[in-house]
Amino acid sequence: MTLLPKRTLGKTNLEVTQLGYGSMGLRGPATWGVRVVDDEAADQFLNRVLDKGINFIDTSPDYGVSEERIGRFISSRRNEYYLATKCGCDYIQHEDHLEVLHTWTKDVLQRNIETSLERLQTDYIDLLQFHGGNAETIQQAGLIETLLDFKAQGLIRFIGSSSSLPHLPGMIELDVFDTIQMPYSCLAPRHHDWITKAAESGAGIIIRGGIAHGGPDAEIDRPALFDVWTQANLDELCGESMSRAELILRYTISHPHFNTTIVGTCDPEHLDENISSLCKGPLDSSLYDEITSRVKTILEAPESRKP
Ligand SMILES: NC(=O)c1ccc[n+]([C@@H]2O[C@H](COP(=O)([O-])OP(=O)(O)OC[C@H]3O[C@@H](n4cnc5c(N)ncnc54)[C@H](OP(=O)(O)O)[C@@H]3O)[C@@H](O)[C@H]2O)c1
Repeated sequence: MTLLPKRTLGKTNLEVTQLGYGSMGLRGPATWGVRVVDDEAADQFLNRVLDKGINFIDTSPDYGVSEERIGRFISSRRNEYYLATKCGCDYIQHEDHLEVLHTWTKDVLQRNIETSLERLQTDYIDLLQFHGGNAETIQQAGLIETLLDFKAQGLIRFIGSSSSLPHLPGMIELDVFDTIQMPYSCLAPRHHDWITKAAESGAGIIIRGGIAHGGPDAEIDRPALFDVWTQANLDELCGESMSRAELILRYTISHPHFNTTIVGTCDPEHLDENISSLCKGPLDSSLYDEITSRVKTILEAPESRKP
C-alpha cells in the first residue's frame, strides 16, 4: 500500500490523509445526475478507499444513500477513518429525484444528527459541518450553540462550515469553526486568498472540487471549466508525462495552506491515479506560477465565463 502523506487538520489536530474521499458520487438512484453506482460497486469502492489508506471521508444527509452505504459497507472498519458529514439538510425524496433544500432551524439539525448517526452506524461523527448557510442566519437561530451542545453530548468531535463566496467571509469571521470546506482548483481559483484567511483563523482547510470535476476529461461536461483549460492551453504544460488530472490535483495541493482534498470518484483507476499524483507532491514553483499566470489572464479577460 502506498503511504499517503498526511496533514494536521487545523484546530482538530486530526492527522488526515491529504487525499480524502468525497462520497457524493455514491448517492444512488432517484437523486440527480446521470450515473448511478449500485450497491455492490459502492461496497467494493468504499473498502478500496480504506484499503488504499485514505482516512478522511466526507458525506452529507442529502447525498441520497451515501451515508447509508458508508454505514452498511465500512462501519465495521470505523477506527480506520475520520467521518465528516453535514447539517441543515432538509431534503425531500420524490419518486424519481431528490429535492435538496437547506433550512436553518434546531429541529432540522436535530433530525440530521439522529438520522446521520443511525445511517452511518456509528456513535459519533468526527466533524459536523454546516452545509452552506450564512453567518447571520446561523447565529440568529442559535445553531452554533446547537452544534456545541452535540459536542458536549459526545455526538460530534468538531464543528465546521462548508461554504463558498459570498457567504464564506462571514463564516470565517465567526471564528468558531475547527474546519472550513470550500471549492478550489487551478481552473476555479477564486477562493485562493480565502483559503489563506480561513487557515490564518486556525481552521483546517478541506478543499472540494480539487480535481476540477475531472477537468477537460470530465464525464459531465462543464463548459466554463473546459474553456479555462483550453484558452490557457494547459495541455502544453502537461508535457509528455503528466495527465490533465495530475496537473490539476498537484496544483490544488500546492496551495501553502492546503490540508486535504476530498476528491470524488467512483472509478478505481481514477482513485489509483489520484493517489499516485498526490504522492508526487506539489508542483515545482515555476510550473505553478506559469499555470497561475495563464489562468489569471483568461479569467480577467472581460468576456470570460467565470467558472
Ligand atoms: N456544498 C458542499 O458542501 C459540497 C458541494 C459539492 C461537493 N461536496 C463534497 O466534495 C466532494 C467532491 O466534490 P465534486 O465531486 O463536486 O468535485 P471533484 O472531486 O472535483 O470532482 C469529482 C469528479 O471528478 C472525476 N474525477 C476524479 N478523479 C479523476 C481523474 N483522475 N480523472 C478524471 N476524472 C476524475 C470524477 O469522475 P469519476 O467517478 O469518473 O472518477 C467525478 O465526476 C463531494 O463528493 C462531496 O463530498 C461538498
